[in-house]
Amino acid sequence: MLRRMTALSAVVLCAGKGTRMKSEKAKVLHAILGKPLCAYPLKRALELGASLVVPVVGHQAESVEKSVRGHFPGAPLRFALQKEQRGTADAVRAAEESLKGFSGRVLILYGDVPLLRRETLEALLAAHDRAGGKLALVSTVLEDPTGYGRILREGGKVVRVVEQKDATPEQRAIRECNAGIYSVDADFLWKALAQIKPNNAQGEYYLTDLVELAAREGPVGTVEGDATETAGVNDRVELAARAKVLQRRINQAHMRAGVTLVDPDTTFIDEDVVVGADTEVGPGVVLSTGTVVGRNVVIGPGCVVTASTVADGTTLKPYSVLEEARVGERNIIGPFSRLRPGTELAEDVHLGNFVETKKAQIGKGSKANHLTYLGDAKVGAGCNIGAGTITCNYDGVNKSLTELGDGVFIGSDTQLVAPVTVGDGAYVGAGTTVTKNVPPGSLAVSRAPQVTKEGWVAAKKARRAAKGG
Ligand code: UD1
Ligand code: MG
Repeated sequence: MLRRMTALSAVVLCAGKGTRMKSEKAKVLHAILGKPLCAYPLKRALELGASLVVPVVGHQAESVEKSVRGHFPGAPLRFALQKEQRGTADAVRAAEESLKGFSGRVLILYGDVPLLRRETLEALLAAHDRAGGKLALVSTVLEDPTGYGRILREGGKVVRVVEQKDATPEQRAIRECNAGIYSVDADFLWKALAQIKPNNAQGEYYLTDLVELAAREGPVGTVEGDATETAGVNDRVELAARAKVLQRRINQAHMRAGVTLVDPDTTFIDEDVVVGADTEVGPGVVLSTGTVVGRNVVIGPGCVVTASTVADGTTLKPYSVLEEARVGERNIIGPFSRLRPGTELAEDVHLGNFVETKKAQIGKGSKANHLTYLGDAKVGAGCNIGAGTITCNYDGVNKSLTELGDGVFIGSDTQLVAPVTVGDGAYVGAGTTVTKNVPPGSLAVSRAPQVTKEGWVAAKKARRAAKGG
């Protein structure tokens, strides 16, 4: 792409407190579909190939930085601190030091505008190229423009932006608004910012003053964004509204790509989740960050899947919960299975109701269909694990491994006291507490032999009657 010839960096304004959130947490850390608000614009900037992204932080700077770094490990981020909130121009100026030596374009985004689409930003950069001036901005035409900066044009050309509080009644009637999203030439940006003064109704350094300065030097490029994508978040009602829009956008993209969502209104799929075609997702399902679902998968109602992979042809029956698990092809999981981190299931595995796994590798075709805990376990192929089997993996100090070979049969209500191994093809009788290794092909039983006393109940009654009881 041609415009990639121009180096790109980005500044994302994340310093605000967000008083109307009525929260102890900074506004930009409130989550939409599992990610903080500011992660969305940051991701857009990184997707566009920004070589350096500067989040400008202020309120709760440390926790914002920590959270953002956690969401973008290894990303080219350099945090800048705006100590006092003196306006949007002052906020961008706080990033100057971090971008020292950078020449190219600076994309300016708001940390509380999560729905901005990549396409709109691509169009913004293209508009900047086309106009050939110092700056391009995203405009948006609103039914009710109250509160926004209005775009003033002369002979069709953008000349300046005027804030609501500084606008005349005629200017307030303008419905073309400034979304607050810009692409600016770096060298112009720093020079122009130094000229901005807080001579306005709010006594703030307005970033919008850049527009007038840029218009004096050349044409200002514009691209129109739609009202939903340029909308910010000021309170929790808006947070929920933006989340709904994002959810709908993501869900529709999946449906158009061949995924059936039984009830898109109650299906929550994080932005980065991949779902293959002909997969069916039931109502009330949550697919969180880092999840990859294959083709022809059936995900029953109420399943919650986080950072897991689910391969083709697998069925997750209702209310199964997966976290950092890898599920192979054609598995049948649930209902009510819980797969915890480190679970790795090969093909054709069946895990049934109330089966919990953790750090468990389970081989092809093995089954544990009822009420079982497999933790720190390696299970071979073709095993049958009876109801109520428990790997006793923890002795109060250490975690130990249970290993089952191929074709092992574990009778119901067995405890496997780790570390312990059961060899290929061995049988463990129901009710056994396995404390010693079981060699291949053998039978292990530890329960006491059954004693049956015929007529015992009647005899007991007779004894009681004789005592007069
Ligand atoms: C700004 C624009 C306005 C535009 C609107 C779109 C200015 C002067 N006006 O107005 O033209 O229509 O956005 O939403 O830029 N921030 C800081 N530090 C500061 C001030 C703000 O980080 O010192 C952050 C805020 O946290 C927020 C963003 O910048 O995320 C925008 O600031 P805000 O005060 O909401 O600007 P608006 O009045 O909405
Ligand atoms: Mg605002």
